[in-house]
Amino acid sequence: EKLIVVVCGGGNAAHVMSGLSASRENVEVRVLDVFSDEAERWTKTLGDDSIVLTVNHPDGSHDEVRGKPNFITNDASKAVPGANLIVFAVPAFAHESYFEAIKPYVKPNMIIVGMPGQPGFEFQCFSILKDIAPKCCVIVFEGLPWAARITEFGRAITVLSTKDFLNCVVIKGESKIEGDPLKPIQYLLGPHPVATKLHNFLEPTLSTKSIMHPPIMYGAWKDWDGNPLSEKPLFYQGLTEEAAELMSGMSDELLATAKAISLKKPEINLDGVIHLFDWLSKIYANEASDKSNLLQLLRTNSAFNGLLHPMKEVEPGKFMPDFTFRYLTEDVPFGVVVLKGISELAGVDTPITDKVLAWSQKMIGKEYIVGNSLCGKDVATSRAPQRYGYKSLDDFDPLL
Ligand code: NAI
Repeated sequence: EKLIVVVCGGGNAAHVMSGLSASRENVEVRVLDVFSDEAERWTKTLGDDSIVLTVNHPDGSHDEVRGKPNFITNDASKAVPGANLIVFAVPAFAHESYFEAIKPYVKPNMIIVGMPGQPGFEFQCFSILKDIAPKCCVIVFEGLPWAARITEFGRAITVLSTKDFLNCVVIKGESKIEGDPLKPIQYLLGPHPVATKLHNFLEPTLSTKSIMHPPIMYGAWKDWDGNPLSEKPLFYQGLTEEAAELMSGMSDELLATAKAISLKKPEINLDGVIHLFDWLSKIYANEASDKSNLLQLLRTNSAFNGLLHPMKEVEPGKFMPDFTFRYLTEDVPFGVVVLKGISELAGVDTPITDKVLAWSQKMIGKEYIVGNSLCGKDVATSRAPQRYGYKSLDDFDPLL
């Protein structure tokens, strides 16, 4: 039987997912792109051609993969009916518009995939899709399977690298899907990455990488005098000791949160929640020349060589930090704020997170915390559980 896949988005992730899925046999691919006139532009640009993926391999060789989506539309009433899988392959700030678009057409037993989900995906999904969400299977990936960049919009993309393994969470709910619900998505991905199942959504959320960028931004810019710089500073290699300590402290607060949840609800397995330092030590075992502490692990990591702070050129050779970049605008409302909300529900104080959050929210012109409490007006546009009316840890039950 044919697998019908809806790929939501129009950026790097959506290009790879739609091209790759369409390259597989017996798959119908419908791209749903609700952003501006992107669907129309993509349809025109691609014409009768296939999307071409240039897939790089670690040994320096590369393959070409071609796939032609059946159609690209901004109309969910055309894309969703009859679908088996709906894959969100778009930045977190755009998820809400896709949930709203697909909502009237989602039916029981559809598989909804966050690729990646980012913290709060589950809260948003269950809140917007309401009664139908528990009848669907929700699969959330911890990251994007690839590092990828579009080389020609609508037509060509380079897959710079592919992960070997990728953690995910499967919320099967009351859905009745025959066999392993991961099977169809693994078929589309191919042999790599291998999707590996965690116990529940709290594990990846409390081990999230969303706590990396905000403290680095804080360390670099909190004492900035507001004058343009003559060059873009190094992002990881320029990491300050203070920023590394804050990052580590935020991770400690997440471990404390996991511990508090385990005490109150021992049935929730949180063995998979590990400190950021331990996680990075594993991932970058070969890339970091000094793994003695978090600061050195990040500063001496060849995977981060030459990566720069996001900067805007205000006049030739003059640069200002770009606080609108996703390091704050994605990792705060769809990252740190969600974590703060979970810690509050668990009754855990988070002074270090609060310090980074207080500065970060100011830089992006938002108010999430007031003092140390998550009650600012912009919680309403974040993905904190409080935004969706969660009042206690028991409210997590339908998601576990
Ligand atoms: P992207 O930057 O390519 O996404 C751009 C797309 O987002 C646009 O083409 C449009 O379709 C959509 N969009 C932009 N503004 C919008 C708006 N106001 N409303 C609705 N839609 C809008 O993002 P990319 O690279 O595809 O990343 C997707 C996710 O994967 C992000 O969470 C990113 O952090 C993550 N990720 C990406 C990696 C990569 O190599 N590209 C690597 C690791 C993670």
